[in-house]
Amino acid sequence: MARKTIVAGNWKMNMTPTQTAELIETLKPLVVSDYSDVVLCVPAIDIPAAVAAAKGSNIEIGAENLYFEDKGAYTGEISADMLLDAGAKYVIIGHSERREYFGETDETVNKKVLKAIEKGLTPIICCGETLTQREQGITIDWVRQQIKIAFQNVTADQAKATVIAYEPIWAIGTGKTATSDQAEEVCGAIRQCIKEVYGDAVAEEIRIQYGGSVNAGNAAELFAKPDIDGGLVGGASLKPDFSKIVNYK
Ligand code: 13P
Repeated sequence: MARKTIVAGNWKMNMTPTQTAELIETLKPLVVSDYSDVVLCVPAIDIPAAVAAAKGSNIEIGAENLYFEDKGAYTGEISADMLLDAGAKYVIIGHSERREYFGETDETVNKKVLKAIEKGLTPIICCGETLTQREQGITIDWVRQQIKIAFQNVTADQAKATVIAYEPIWAIGTGKTATSDQAEEVCGAIRQCIKEVYGDAVAEEIRIQYGGSVNAGNAAELFAKPDIDGGLVGGASLKPDFSKIVNYK
């Protein structure tokens, strides 16, 4: 079964609501695609503006984080219901920047994944190694562990509809992309791990993105690899050139 490519932007802490509407108006006609799903994950406060601007287009809107409780005394946090009501369909979970700066652990990632699935948001579940871990030769062990914990108590049916993003930390925002062979090696290992846990059908269906300095010049080679089903794109998703990544063929 051929998997459809999914190209998602991660805007991180960029763009005001006003800028969001402008950029999406610019992108809308450019990102029409026969072969890629298109998602823009934006700051929570930008979601209503993004949803309004993307209306009638093929762009789906996602969030960059959520909290795993339904409601209550969690000052500053945002629930799955709030994201859904604002029109988000996807949510990035466990980005390395959240792990590094905001204390996310594999355990909180798992709780957030379970909550997103329960509520009907599609999680984009991030994993990836540091440069030190790569040099120590533990990349695949590390990423397998991240994936196994992230998917605790997730059923096979639920797992196949999720998206995994492999993002080597040393390639994020550095302009230093993993080679397509390096990216394929780890994405293939992630698919193998999913196969061990859930079997062939889920492993065949689940989509695995590569992220880390993806741009219009390297997307085609990366996405042509058998186990890479698109990308999670940071800096290059803030520019009209994002459309060249979506339409990489
Ligand atoms: P860059 O594309 O800016 O390297 O960011 C990648 C990323 O972190 C996407 O989540």
